Amino acid sequence: MPTQLHAICSDITKLHVGAIVNAANSSLLGGGGVDGAIHRAAGPELVHECRLLGGCKTGHAKVTKAYRLSADYIIHTVGPVWQGGKSGEPALLADCYRRCIALAEERSVVSIAFPSISTGIYGYPLHLAAHIAVSTVQESLSEHSPIAEVIFCCFSPEDLLQYEQVLKNPPLPPIDI
Ligand code: AR6
Repeated sequence: MPTQLHAICSDITKLHVGAIVNAANSSLLGGGGVDGAIHRAAGPELVHECRLLGGCKTGHAKVTKAYRLSADYIIHTVGPVWQGGKSGEPALLADCYRRCIALAEERSVVSIAFPSISTGIYGYPLHLAAHIAVSTVQESLSEHSPIAEVIFCCFSPEDLLQYEQVLKNPPLPPIDI
């Protein structure tokens, strides 16, 4: 069965999925935005486990348990801070999605929800980030991926519209000449 990709508008902490992705910072010790919401909802044990991980580089990802959330895992990833787009931000943002999919597949996760990484406090323009999110997930799913469902969890109706546009008009595959 091919993996289903879709977008919804929701608080990601309310979702019943195998893995919830967190848009964290390199300390992995919590912050504002979706990171703060995930730490509050998961409870204080989460930061105890995160302390043992030794931080996380931009574009990388690390896994913890999900504690009080209705998920098996939280995959913490650190998106790039938007600096105008010429400082490697697109490649780093793609690395986040690629590494999250790889970690989820290693753990045989069946459903995964992503927030729109880097598009809040880190300032990445939503329309550019949505293209990278969708195309990188499509490219990263392995041939027999255990992941049946990928949810792009938007936090506003405007963001949802953008993701729906991108999902309706996916980037064309490369042409073999
Ligand atoms: N559910 C789903 N999406 C959410 C939620 C939620 N509960 N809350 C916010 N968003 P941001 P970043 C959306 O700022 O830009 C933290 O302090 C939000 O509307 O959470 O990667 C970290 O510790 C936006 O679309 O993450 C870092 O320091 C998206 O999630 C820094 O922010 C990402 O916004 C990371 O910044």
